[in-house]
Amino acid sequence: MTYDPPSFQHAGGSKTLTAGRLAPEPSGKAALAASTPSVPKYMHEVYSWAYLSPVGQWVFDRSVSVNAILWGNADRLIQSVEDELEAGQKVLQAACVYGDFSKRMASKVGPEGRLDVIDIAPNQVRQTRVKLSEHPQASVRIADAREPGVGELDVAICFFLLHEVPADYKPVIVNALFDSVRPGGKVVFVDYHRMAGWHPLRPIMWSVYRLLEPFAQELVDGSIPALAAQRDDIEWGPTQTFFGGLYQKIVAHRR
Ligand SMILES: C[S@@+](CC[C@H](N)C(=O)[O-])C[C@H]1O[C@@H](n2cnc3c(N)ncnc32)[C@H](O)[C@@H]1O
Repeated sequence: MTYDPPSFQHAGGSKTLTAGRLAPEPSGKAALAASTPSVPKYMHEVYSWAYLSPVGQWVFDRSVSVNAILWGNADRLIQSVEDELEAGQKVLQAACVYGDFSKRMASKVGPEGRLDVIDIAPNQVRQTRVKLSEHPQASVRIADAREPGVGELDVAICFFLLHEVPADYKPVIVNALFDSVRPGGKVVFVDYHRMAGWHPLRPIMWSVYRLLEPFAQELVDGSIPALAAQRDDIEWGPTQTFFGGLYQKIVAHRR
């Protein structure tokens, strides 16, 4: 399925982080409106119940719900991302995640670090700002992960985002995240993966993808490295799988 790009011209959000500094913002309400991406059609058509509705947000934005959705694997998947971070780093989180994910990332980079969280949905941004209010090293803004509007990062995190976006968004997001990290930096992907043939959850997950996650099957049938443009400065690590192959983590380093 192909969606029209949302109606925006500039990088998501009005701020550009270059070598740790915020570049000057365009001034005035008009400039801000012009630079704020609108919520894409697939969010309204497919994920309204999960990410745009207040009820969905209330139900799902708690660790117990995230853990249930991930079949009890939330902590180890989140921990596997946390393990990739170090204190003092500049980190981008390419979309909000329900539960305490962002708090854990903010704590890991610590007061000397910087966590920049983006999301396409204003309600998700508002709620994540509240969650991170005690972490001055973290900021949250509206942006499309296809145009994160940052550069020179140590790490970009893409946690369960790729399976949620249409096919034409996936490669654009992957390549944009590579462009946002500095040479020597890395991009960490965690997402669904093709599970083992014997997996007892196969029929359930098949139904979940079919009914609720229409862009997930194409991700599990392919591979994350195949989404990236051929470039000599990216080195892919091995794919680590979890829980009978239902989940994957892959880290790509920028040389
Ligand atoms: C990263 S996924 C995380 C899903 C996971 N099940 C959880 O626990 O939250 C969900 C988020 O992606 C956001 N999102 C969807 N498309 C996006 C895009 N193109 N750019 C940035 N954020 C996007 C949604 O608004 C939502 O907040």
